[in-house]
Amino acid sequence: MNVHTNIPLKNYLSMKIGGTTRFMTDVSNIDELHQVMTNAKTQNLPFFILGSGSNVIARDDEYPGLVVRVRIPGFEVVAEDHSTTTIKIGAGEIWDEVVARSVDMNLVGIEAMSDIPSYCGAAPVQNIGAYGQELADTLVSLEAYDTSVGQIVSLSNDDCKFTYRDSIFRVEEQGRYIITSITLQLYKSAPTPPFYQALQNYFDEHGITIFTPKVIREAVSEIRREKLPDPAKRPNSGSFFKNAIIDQWQLDELLREYSDMPHYEMGEGRYKIPSGWLIEQCGFKGQLLHGMRVNPANALVLINESASGYLDLSLARAEITQTVQDRFRISIEQEPLEIA
Ligand code: EPU
Repeated sequence: MNVHTNIPLKNYLSMKIGGTTRFMTDVSNIDELHQVMTNAKTQNLPFFILGSGSNVIARDDEYPGLVVRVRIPGFEVVAEDHSTTTIKIGAGEIWDEVVARSVDMNLVGIEAMSDIPSYCGAAPVQNIGAYGQELADTLVSLEAYDTSVGQIVSLSNDDCKFTYRDSIFRVEEQGRYIITSITLQLYKSAPTPPFYQALQNYFDEHGITIFTPKVIREAVSEIRREKLPDPAKRPNSGSFFKNAIIDQWQLDELLREYSDMPHYEMGEGRYKIPSGWLIEQCGFKGQLLHGMRVNPANALVLINESASGYLDLSLARAEITQTVQDRFRISIEQEPLEIA
């Protein structure tokens, strides 16, 4: 296990913005992780766990700590019955390779989350989700290194307090747990409608009426290719903003003014409003703001076209969030985490 110094973070982040990190290391098993974290603690060094870097941004100045990339492998069927298969997966496995394997096994549960750039250990942090599925639907439990006690602990789905794009790992217990494996329970039954609207539209257009995990994976890949810019060619972090969650009274008030505002019921009197719609209504779709292009195909995605760095990104972000706030009285939140 080597510890590298003064590594430019922009080479590791899909937004291609960010200064250097003082230290960076990869760990491929729990002993190495324990050793690295014990050293970091002794030296009082801040740390940040980095997955694929596709949902993380960094500031321009040096990160005075240690970036750890968890590359612990593993893919093991740990339980099986007539209707389900339960698989334990190492944090260092590439998410989409795991989705591909589950689809090859004809299992249902994560196929709509195809092509999400992530490592498995990062997936629970923001409760990844797409096209009608989210990780919380299939995650049974996970194992994590608890930095407060220096030991591996097991957390149940409930312990993780998953909500839309959120879990205890993002804020409440940020920096305490380092995920080392996830355990998912997948289903042997066929995928059944109703499907996410964009998926259903795709099936209708292509006359698809028989649904298998493979059919769904292929449809999602196709839709994503149209909507989401390839980070290898056009640097971006996927959705840069979360969708907004508002209360019933706020929805009623806004619908009086904007009767065509899309909204999705989330239960308990809460509604999800697509932030892409809010941003588009403010006239930003396709615009270049401080070197950041608001994606013409989906205004939630910001593409780094010519930004000089984090400062430009933060100016573009401020312009968008402030304009949305002034017009709709909705405060939209950034999705990517920041190395800080
Ligand atoms: N919309 C607009 N204008 C836009 C974008 C969206 O009006 O520019 C409205 C439309 O009404 C559309 C609705 O928003 O029907 C939903 O749009 P879409 O299906 O493209 O999804 P999204 O809300 O923009 C979310 C996730 C994506 C995920 C898709 C599909 C978040 C923050 N983003 O996007 O996840 O792929 O749904 O499930 O929840 C990511 O997190 O990085 C990501 C790409």
